Amino acid sequence: AAIEFGLDAPYDVEYHERIPSTNDRARELAADGTENDVVVADEQTGGRGRLAREWTAPSGGIWVSLLLRPSRPPADVPLYTLAAAVAVARASRDVGVDARIKWPNDVLVADEAGEERKLCGILTEMEGEADRVSWLVVGPGINANIDADALPPDATSLRAEVGDVDRRAFLQGVLEAFHRLTRRDAEVGEILDAWREHAATLGRRVRVDTPGGVVEGEAVDVRFPGSLVVRTDGDDERVVHAGDCEHLRP
Ligand code: BTN
Repeated sequence: AAIEFGLDAPYDVEYHERIPSTNDRARELAADGTENDVVVADEQTGGRGRLAREWTAPSGGIWVSLLLRPSRPPADVPLYTLAAAVAVARASRDVGVDARIKWPNDVLVADEAGEERKLCGILTEMEGEADRVSWLVVGPGINANIDADALPPDATSLRAEVGDVDRRAFLQGVLEAFHRLTRRDAEVGEILDAWREHAATLGRRVRVDTPGGVVEGEAVDVRFPGSLVVRTDGDDERVVHAGDCEHLRP
């Protein structure tokens, strides 16, 4: 059954109580030629995370996949994931959660001791030619109205932070913010600036496990299309395009 969000954003929303994975469903729709569809589920039985990991997705979450067909080259795709992370961070702030983004796109909440826990992860998948994306699926998994003990130990939820939220309103906020950042005439710089504003990683000491080896140093900036600039102890500037980032204790 479709939910009408009354968004200015032109998304059709398909809701499932229970589904293996909203990203898988969005990929199916992509193969059918659908565009601008949003798939939402209350519960996923085969949720997927980055790097072929499993994603715990019990009932009460906001498990979402956006199917988009942007007229942009595949090289620009990381920007969409950054924009989704910003959108989730903003919606979280709106309900009183001080959420920040760990590069590239984990949304975290820190406790009083500075311990960071994951509120949302995003799985982005795409297919395209050299100069044009054919389909893009951006899939944020937001731990919403879920007990923290139903989640991995390094995770938190909106329920654990501020109590249950209106998931429909929350998702509407996310979709609106995402649409504003990625609308046709949006500037790329806007997304990067918004990301910087919500970043947990900038100014921090990090260790990034990249395909080309480990890079350690201070994270100094984010750069088009979503790369992290790290100043190493040897005062070298390294630009990291992909990898697993760990915040180190000062
Ligand atoms: C990660 O941090 O590893 C990314 C997790 C992404 C999980 C979401 S939940 C909605 C969408 N459907 C999936 O199967 N995965 C993503």
